[in-house]
Amino acid sequence: MKVTVVGAGAVGASCAEYIAMKNFAAEVVLVDIKEGLAEGKAMDLMQTASLNQFDTQITGSTQDYRPTAGSDVAVITSGIPRKPGMTREELISTNAGIVKEVAQNLIQHSPEVTLIVVSNPMDTMTYLAHQALDLPKNRIIGMGGALDSARFKYRLAEALEAPISDVDGMVIGGHSDTGMLPLTRLATRNSVPVSHFLSPDRLQQVGEDTKVGGATLTKLLGTSAWYAPGAAVSAMVHAIANDSHKIFPCSCLLEGQYGLNDLCIGVPAKIGAQGIEEIVEIDLNDEEQAKLQESAAAVQKTNGLL
Ligand code: 2OP
Repeated sequence: MKVTVVGAGAVGASCAEYIAMKNFAAEVVLVDIKEGLAEGKAMDLMQTASLNQFDTQITGSTQDYRPTAGSDVAVITSGIPRKPGMTREELISTNAGIVKEVAQNLIQHSPEVTLIVVSNPMDTMTYLAHQALDLPKNRIIGMGGALDSARFKYRLAEALEAPISDVDGMVIGGHSDTGMLPLTRLATRNSVPVSHFLSPDRLQQVGEDTKVGGATLTKLLGTSAWYAPGAAVSAMVHAIANDSHKIFPCSCLLEGQYGLNDLCIGVPAKIGAQGIEEIVEIDLNDEEQAKLQESAAAVQKTNGLL
C-alpha cells in the first residue's frame, strides 16, 4: 500500500510514524511546502526503522506531487493549526484554499485515491473536498470522531479508574468544541453501561471534558495537539489497508441519513478498502437526535463561509 501524507507538521509526521510502525504500508510519502521539511522528517523517521522494526519506505517531497503518484490513501493535514483561544472554524479563511489546492494536486497524480481530511475546520474541509473533486463520496472521509472518541475513552477511563482497554465509547457530530456529541448513554465498561458506575453529573462532566479536549491541549501546548490526531488517522488508514470493515465515527457526506443532507458530519461508518462502505444509522434518543441536528446546523453555517 502507498500512502501520502500532505503536511509534514506535527500531525502529519506523527501520522507517518504511526503508519510506519504498524508496518502495513510499503511506502509513505510526506509532502510539505516548507523547503526540506518533508525530506528531513522522512529521513529522520527512516533512521528509526532498524530500531522500531519496520520496512515501510518513507520519503519526503517539497511541493512536488509527482512522487505521490499512485497513492492508495492520502491524508490531508496541511493548513494552519489553531492557537489558544481560537476555534477550529476560525481557520477556514486560510485553510480552505490550501486544502482545495492540495486535494486537486493529489487527485491529479492518484485518481483512485481515498482521501482522509484532517485539516480544520474538518467537517467543512471534508465537504469542500467533495465539492472540489470528482471522487465517489465513499472515498472522501473526514477524521475527527476517531480522535474525539479516543479522548472520550480517556476521560471515561479516568472517571471510572478503569484500564482504557475496558472502556468503549463513541463521539458523533461536528468536530467542534460545541458540536461534538459524546454518546454517554451507550458507553460501556466491558459491556456494562457506564451509568452503572458513574452518576449523571459525573458523566456530564466526562462529556464536557471530551468536547473541549482539543482546546484543553491547545491551551497547554500553545498549538493544536498532534499525537492523538496522528494516531487516529493512522488507525483509519490501517482499516482501509486491511479492508477491516471497522466502524469509526467519521465525517461522511450525508444524503438523508439521520435526517441530514448535503453536509459532512461525524457519524458511525464501516471503513474498509473502498473507504466508507456503509454509514451506520444507530438509534438515537430524542435528546441525542436534537443535539445532532443542532450540531449539523452549526456545520452548515460554517460551510456557508466557503
Ligand atoms: C484536535 O482536536 C487538531 O482538531 C484537532 O486536536
